[in-house]
Amino acid sequence: MKTREIRDRFFAFFESREHKLVPSASLVPNDPTLLLSNAGMNQFKPYFLGEQSPPFPRAMSVQKCFRATDIDEVGDHSHLTFFEMLGNFSFGDYYKEKAIPWGWELVTDGFGIDPARLWPTVFETDDEAFDIWRDAVGVPPERIVRRTKEHNYWDMGVAGPCGPCSEIFVDLGDAYGPPSDLGPEGNEDRYLEIWNLVFMQNDCNAQIEPVAELPKKNIDTGAGLERIAMVLQGVPTLYETDTFTALIERASELTKQKYGKDESVDRGLRVLADHARGITFLIADGVLPSNQERGYVLRRVMRRAVRHARLLGGAASDRGRGEEEILPEMISSVIELMGDAYPDLIEKKGHITEIAAHEEERFAGTLRQGLSMLEDEISRARETSTGIPGDVAFKLHDTFGFPIDLTREIAGESGVPVDSERFEKLMADQRARARAARKREALAEAGDVGAAILEEHGPTPFDGYEHLTGTATVIGIADNGVSVPVASEGDEVEVVLDETVFYAEGGGQVGDQGEMSSPTGRARVVTTTRIVPGVTGHLAIIKVGELKVGDKVAVAVDAGFRRNSERSHTATHVLHWILRDRLGDHATQAGSLVEPGRLRFDFNHFEALGEDRVADISTELQERVLVDDEVRAFETSFDFAKSIGAMAIFGEKYGDFVRVVEVGDYSKELCGGTHVPHTSQIGVAVVTSEGSVGANLRRVEALVGKDGLDYLNRRVAVLERAAAFLKTTPEEVAEKVERLLQTSKDMERRLADVDRKRSSSEADALAGAAEDLGGVRLVVARRDEGVDALRQLALSLRGKLGSAVIVLGTATDGKANLVAAMSKDLVERGLTARDLISEGAKLLGGGGGGKPDLAISGGPYAANLDRALEAVAAAARESLRG
Ligand code: ALA
Repeated sequence: MKTREIRDRFFAFFESREHKLVPSASLVPNDPTLLLSNAGMNQFKPYFLGEQSPPFPRAMSVQKCFRATDIDEVGDHSHLTFFEMLGNFSFGDYYKEKAIPWGWELVTDGFGIDPARLWPTVFETDDEAFDIWRDAVGVPPERIVRRTKEHNYWDMGVAGPCGPCSEIFVDLGDAYGPPSDLGPEGNEDRYLEIWNLVFMQNDCNAQIEPVAELPKKNIDTGAGLERIAMVLQGVPTLYETDTFTALIERASELTKQKYGKDESVDRGLRVLADHARGITFLIADGVLPSNQERGYVLRRVMRRAVRHARLLGGAASDRGRGEEEILPEMISSVIELMGDAYPDLIEKKGHITEIAAHEEERFAGTLRQGLSMLEDEISRARETSTGIPGDVAFKLHDTFGFPIDLTREIAGESGVPVDSERFEKLMADQRARARAARKREALAEAGDVGAAILEEHGPTPFDGYEHLTGTATVIGIADNGVSVPVASEGDEVEVVLDETVFYAEGGGQVGDQGEMSSPTGRARVVTTTRIVPGVTGHLAIIKVGELKVGDKVAVAVDAGFRRNSERSHTATHVLHWILRDRLGDHATQAGSLVEPGRLRFDFNHFEALGEDRVADISTELQERVLVDDEVRAFETSFDFAKSIGAMAIFGEKYGDFVRVVEVGDYSKELCGGTHVPHTSQIGVAVVTSEGSVGANLRRVEALVGKDGLDYLNRRVAVLERAAAFLKTTPEEVAEKVERLLQTSKDMERRLADVDRKRSSSEADALAGAAEDLGGVRLVVARRDEGVDALRQLALSLRGKLGSAVIVLGTATDGKANLVAAMSKDLVERGLTARDLISEGAKLLGGGGGGKPDLAISGGPYAANLDRALEAVAAAARESLRG
């Protein structure tokens, strides 16, 4: 049965049961919480939640889906990133009693799958579903498998509707492993899930915990179209179905690799076929490669595809077809195959291939250099049993365009970890630098315009301490440093008002965000700054219509943004006071950043605070927040402010009149910022770090309000998970971990002892069997063990044999490694271990690397290991004879 017919039969079946056909939604969902469409139900979420009433009680669709979570499994028999999901839906209409028998009827009568091959599963406590399968459908009870939440409770991966589910599995037969009395519970490879029936009855929160009942009981089902095709067409993997064969053929032509001869090559070709589909559909739905969010998902898939193409092409010959652009060719094939069902692909073909060609070109230029750097790092990391430093991962990202996941994936193939924490830190620093540079540029550009306005109108006053909304007149617009009379849709400009409720960045507090609108236009204010002293500029993007000088505008600061800035600002004052109270009067402010949700405070102090002190300061901060002191502001003369002990910031210029902000009866600071009226409104304030930022300069960071709460909750959740893993309570985690570490240290010592003894006797045996090549001993052997064990063995053999070459290979977890060691005299003769294994490394799909006397290399093509060892042995014989 061709894929097209499967689709038609599905629709005919549910159409005769009064389901309304709804077209697939875009892969870019109309749901800010979801990155990419991952299920047929996404577009119906408001109906399930009861937020909108559905225009029809039943629906059916075939939905384009993308799941990056399965990316590592792509290339096996049953996983894809992009796929099509058939589904039928009931919005408070029918429930399990119909969904289950209909599912069964379509699969058996409609598609003709032998009932003897089918296994339904149900959520462990769902007796209702179990009874329907047994009594209404007639499945023997031993064939109905009860499974835990992990398998049989479905959610979107983000907040939203969720519920227990029942899945239909097909037994694929002995080629996929032994049968099990437990069906899919016993062997996930042999039993393939083809249809998931979800009983949507709960609403879950952002932590994906069900927290409420939905207003009605609903049905959401999802059947993988490609998987059904695989079963009905009787082919061994998804990639031999009618919609894939042409793609595999194309990939095979382009890389000059035959499909069906070597599992690891096949996997590479399948990855190309899958990724080509994903790339095509993502770009068609408006995603562009970038370093953020969905753009990053696309970039990662594209760069992964390019790397696989090069690996495949590179394995055939050093400069094979794989060096040419491959994505545009693959995309053309996808469009030929799927353009019928998705005509927009044909329309957008030029755009899609252009984007892909450009991205491929950009990446391919640096791929080789980046890979060789990464391979050297991997060898180094293995020799020293360390990982890839964050700085290297950052350089790979920044200079060579390697998405961090790709770096992790390649390093992971050789069992080497990547320092992600350091990488993230470097990324954050880079973003901050870019932000600051942009701001400086914008200010410099608007400066002249601001000066002219100041001369003509005088300063633009701030009237936003009490109000967040108001009206004002546009008195100037600056576009890239040039004064303009009007700005229209899409323009990003500095707008100056005669007076404003927007707080302009200052005193550490970030500038406000919000909206302004006139009868002819609406603009989004992304930040507010003082473009020259006395004149406030609103950096605005015109969203609708136009904005003109002279327009009267209604303005509104985002209340949430401002409130959260205020929480952080007042918390900063309290923190400042506590620091001076605890550390001494010298601990004065040297700089601060006050943002919604977080604050950063730099102060003068000569030593690290230490864990206990930081904890004490954090507690004091939170306690002062609980006390609910009043926060008051008043204007007065500078001299009076000084006389009551208000803190001024060293180096800052103040006028004769100043604003003083008091918290309770303890903190007094000169400050123009905005604050909460009572400390309790800060809610939560928790210190998250303390460190040095220069000589005698320390920095404390804190999270505030909801962000503080989220931070604490995350910590608790992690602790609870750890406790659950350790089968203990959170209070006992530390002790238990300490005991475990001790035990594991003891065990490691004992294991190392055993290993040493075993490898020494193994080394004796291998040494005894070494080949003699005119005085040089050659050992070539395969031991499927960890690379470290192999390295030890190679070194111990080298120690025993004198003048010798040792080559060892291992294949574990679908990847292979070679270790080569060479005695000093041979290195002095000009031979190197690195050159010796380079041929073999290529066969494994990896590169060379390492030192002249010891080299380690690896790659994903584990099936080639024996051939790789033979190739290295031959190379060794040749060079030793020659
Ligand atoms: N929404 C359900 C799934 O994706 C049907 O499995």
